[in-house]
Amino acid sequence: MLLYNAVALLAATLAVRSQTLYLAGDSTMAPSSGVIQGWGTAVGRYLSITTVNKGVGGESARSYTNNGRFNEIINVVKPGDFVVFEFGHNDVSAGSGNPDNGKQDAVGDGYDITATVTAANGTQILIHSFAYYIENAINAVAAKGGISIISSLTPHNSFVNGNIGFDGGRFQTYAKSIGTRKNIVYVDHYSYTAQAFNALGQTKVATFFPDDALHFNAAGADVVAQAFIKGLLCSTSTLKIKVNSAGPNVPNGCL
Ligand SMILES: *[C@@H]1O[C@H](CO)[C@@H](O)[C@H](O)[C@H]1NC(C)=O
Repeated sequence: MLLYNAVALLAATLAVRSQTLYLAGDSTMAPSSGVIQGWGTAVGRYLSITTVNKGVGGESARSYTNNGRFNEIINVVKPGDFVVFEFGHNDVSAGSGNPDNGKQDAVGDGYDITATVTAANGTQILIHSFAYYIENAINAVAAKGGISIISSLTPHNSFVNGNIGFDGGRFQTYAKSIGTRKNIVYVDHYSYTAQAFNALGQTKVATFFPDDALHFNAAGADVVAQAFIKGLLCSTSTLKIKVNSAGPNVPNGCL
């Protein structure tokens, strides 16, 4: 019995040691591209878990699915691993009159919503909702024993009267709904980042956005990563035990 316990303890310890956090998202999460850096590169500073940044520029929930990128994660997820899902910037409508772009989702807050769109070659294609693509991946992660966290998209550098509001639009709403439907932790990364940007002020935050109003540099990535850590620490996620000694010092409060 003693030996069994020792072996079980060793096995459990090894299992804990080999835990991995996978990050699934777009350019705002992805590894550096020139002066632009995604927050997924910076967030490892605040965590004591192997973090694999699978953020890819230009991806939506739909294209990440169709390009096999969720499957890349699902194929390697082990019991106890974590997966953070954060999409929305590339899921927007291709615009009326434009052909399908392979990225837009059927509009609406729910799993079963579909739409028919016309591809550039004239073929009619059935597309699904944001929630459909992400919830299918969450289900597959759960089947492997993985733990999913749904996170809302990052805000633009969009100050109005010196303030960025906490309304992140429909993809923030969809992310929150996914958390409720799947009974998984939702991190309102949009609001936590807006809070952090507001505290630093419009002039300082402008220095984080060298190219456009969406993509931030390394200094911005650190602030956005800190905002994720704050949201995580304010949640019920079991990933909280993997926040390292730098994590509790990230600024701002729980929302
Ligand atoms: C037309 O484009 C769609 C979307 O890219 C593709 O799935 C389909 O195979 C194409 N059809 C033809 C006939 O090339």
